[in-house]
Amino acid sequence: MKILVTGGAGFIGSAVARLAIARGFDVVNLDALTYAANPANLASVDSAPGYAFEHADIRDRDALDRILATHEPDAVLHLAAESHVDRSIDGPRAFIDTNVTGTFNLLEASRAWWSARGKPDGFRFLHVSTDEVFGSLGPDGRFTEDSPYDPRSPYSASKAASDHLVRAWHETYGLPVIVTNCSNNYGPYQFPEKLIPVTILNALAGRPLPVYGKGANIRDWLFVEDHAEALLLVLERGRPGRTYAIGGENERRNIDIVTTICGILDRKRPRSRGAHRDLVTFVADRPGHDARYAIDPTRIATELGWRPSLTIDEGLERTVDWYLANEDWWRPLLQRDGVGARLGLSA
Ligand SMILES: NC(=O)c1ccc[n+]([C@@H]2O[C@H](COP(=O)([O-])OP(=O)(O)OC[C@H]3O[C@@H](n4cnc5c(N)ncnc54)[C@H](O)[C@@H]3O)[C@@H](O)[C@H]2O)c1
Repeated sequence: MKILVTGGAGFIGSAVARLAIARGFDVVNLDALTYAANPANLASVDSAPGYAFEHADIRDRDALDRILATHEPDAVLHLAAESHVDRSIDGPRAFIDTNVTGTFNLLEASRAWWSARGKPDGFRFLHVSTDEVFGSLGPDGRFTEDSPYDPRSPYSASKAASDHLVRAWHETYGLPVIVTNCSNNYGPYQFPEKLIPVTILNALAGRPLPVYGKGANIRDWLFVEDHAEALLLVLERGRPGRTYAIGGENERRNIDIVTTICGILDRKRPRSRGAHRDLVTFVADRPGHDARYAIDPTRIATELGWRPSLTIDEGLERTVDWYLANEDWWRPLLQRDGVGARLGLSA
């Protein structure tokens, strides 16, 4: 099978591309190479015979038509997006342009390509979305595929809009789409603007470890390689028109994530004086910060047999080890626009 992966130079997209190549799929990676992209994420596969790269933007419909005609993929796995909530608060337009208009372009280009080939049943358009479209949970309950949409940030609203478009293209045009909504990913190759890499890298540098509000917000952490496994499984065995919620069943408060990382670093890279947790600094909360997300992954477990392979403690240990061993990967990223700055307070 040949898969067109959009956003394959980003965090999750590159994990999918690496796994897909290892499994013997052909991969065409379409990426605009925004600030969040890193071609080094693909270093282990970019000379593989089944791998091709297309530097293109999903806002450019002509480029999408050309790439589909050139590579003739059997499936589109759509991950390209603006993905950082704090950046969406400061500059929402890019989120509408890429996440909504870009997804519309990709749907239309895919529909044209699929129709021109006689609408093959086996074609798939897999749209990767987030649990954030369902809003914020109280202390109890978990999101399922039937949870009502209630997005509360420009990012989650743009992803919700794209989910609606994808579903409509199935109902109206019969395009064989599948939507996945996953929880917070973490693991190797995550850009250093999200909680876990920021905490690891600030701790290594002896800098303050910023924790929004009181650190009480709860996320359901999903190891990125488990997520990549789930996406390939859904692509091969998921039912068109269906949604699959994917979560790690690993709920933790943000402050507990930070202190767990501190404990790991105390063992592996002790400070000359004091403990890493002494660097924890509570900072102004994110406007509209959702209290809790959690996914009930029963459908993907029972229908497709997927389960997360790692607990959060195992995954954090692996992630810290990866950042310790890959300074050449992360050091240049610290110079990129906005990295290290507090974003998302402009509301
Ligand atoms: N990271 C998470 O925890 C998480 C959780 C749930 C859902 N998601 C979703 O998964 C997908 C991937 O997330 P990620 O964390 O890997 O994101 P990321 O920011 O690391 O990567 C996004 C990639 O998309 C590319 N891109 C952005 N705009 C583009 C455009 N207009 N045209 C072509 N390429 C473009 C970027 O260059 C980058 O390589 C996104 O759709 C995101 O909404 C992520």
